[in-house]
Amino acid sequence: GADVEVDISGIEPGQLIRVMWRSKPVWIVRRTPEILEELGRHEDQLKDPNSEAEQQPTFAQNRFRSMKEEYLVLVGICTHLGCSPQHLKDGAFEEVVEGVPDGFFCPCHGSKFDMAGRVFQNVPAPLNLVVPPYQFVDDNTLIIG
Ligand code: FES
Repeated sequence: GADVEVDISGIEPGQLIRVMWRSKPVWIVRRTPEILEELGRHEDQLKDPNSEAEQQPTFAQNRFRSMKEEYLVLVGICTHLGCSPQHLKDGAFEEVVEGVPDGFFCPCHGSKFDMAGRVFQNVPAPLNLVVPPYQFVDDNTLIIG
């Protein structure tokens, strides 16, 4: 069927893996406690910190935008014109947003997103990155779709 089953047991803390779902790239990131903490520190720089501007799963309408805080699941397509944002980690994102070590940067027109896929202010992307429907079958297995 169209659903994709993903074994997440091998994802290291901080690592992002990519799978394809309905011809779209989907990212799964295992967030560290430091990354989760940072989500609360820059909300005044975001367009829509609680994802109220768009249709999203109810569990995504908060700071973490995930079913389990540790695992972020996102459609990896910029909400501006559909380019593929880059994952900048371990301090590399500070070149893009001062004081924020990790995030996503779209090279096409400079949109910036945090580690919950929330879009920063003053960039062309209008909306947060999309959270696809998914569920955990068990601790190590995710089904997207
Ligand atoms: Fe990403 Fe334009 S497509 S900023």
